[in-house]
Amino acid sequence: MKARRALLYVPGSDLHKIEKAVRLDVDGIILDLEDGVSANRKDEARQIIAGALTTLDFGRSERIVRINPFYTGRAEADLAAVLPAGPETIIVPKVDSPSILHRVDEILDQAESTARRAKNSIEVIALIESAKAFVELKEICQASIRLKGLILGAEDLTADAGMTRTPVGTELLYARSMLALYAAAYDLQAIDMVQTNFNDVERLTAEARQAAELGYAGKQVIHPAQIAPVQKVFTPDEAAIERAKRIIAGAEEAAAGGRGAFSLDGEMVDLPVIKRAQSILTRARAAGILD
Ligand code: COA
Ligand code: MG
Repeated sequence: MKARRALLYVPGSDLHKIEKAVRLDVDGIILDLEDGVSANRKDEARQIIAGALTTLDFGRSERIVRINPFYTGRAEADLAAVLPAGPETIIVPKVDSPSILHRVDEILDQAESTARRAKNSIEVIALIESAKAFVELKEICQASIRLKGLILGAEDLTADAGMTRTPVGTELLYARSMLALYAAAYDLQAIDMVQTNFNDVERLTAEARQAAELGYAGKQVIHPAQIAPVQKVFTPDEAAIERAKRIIAGAEEAAAGGRGAFSLDGEMVDLPVIKRAQSILTRARAAGILD
């Protein structure tokens, strides 16, 4: 599992920002061809992204490209331009049916075979951002073995579904919970919505914490100032890791003694508690703070 605590959008047309992004120690960098790029610079952005992927050292940051939606007629040429430069992951926007991911699979299969890359090594993350996408979510989750994550596209969803976008986001609660639940059911990572106000760290942190509580693995970010606070929220803290280790050790001891449930610090520990502890350790390992 890759750590995807914070995924930073960078407009693919902006080489200065891309050069900055690779030095920010962020889990993932999303080189954007879609909404972050003006219509008259989209062709140029393809070349800038391909160049950046070939020449820049991204360090530990995942190299991700967000292409344009297929209905625009641009997606195929986006992929043709960037795939030879070797991105690790493709974000597909406006995924509202499994057929879109089937089409992506065909193109990625071809690219891998041409580049002699391992089959299915290029990963895919789907942006879920329309009412129809939520109705089709089960089929979308099962559409491709490349699919590793679902992103909540809150701005597009509220526009599509006729919701009023409020600062608190109560209108999004159902969709936001549903996405996390489906992601868990199909072993995918759920990635939370963007907080567009990049000066309000308090609001960002509260929103990220709520997402983590709902089961999200990370959050989309748009500004360098958002990276550290968001990555912190999605990293298990030392106390949680220590407790998880004790739960696992206790569970092994209990199992050896033929017991299922046991007590730790005056609280009952049984299978769901053990599972949560395992997931904390998995996330800590992915974040590189536990071997
Ligand atoms: N990636 C890398 N660097 C970024 C960045 C990003 N997403 N956002 C800002 N920076 C850099 C700026 O270039 C600036 O560096 P500089 O002083 O060397 O030029 C520094 O961080 C501070 O930026 P700031 O002046 O506070 O913001 P800005 O006005 O330059 O940019 C945005 C504000 C919103 C335009 C910018 O953050 C951005 O483009 N975000 C991504 C938008 C996007 O992709 N949206 C689509 C997906 S929702
Ligand atoms: Mg969008």
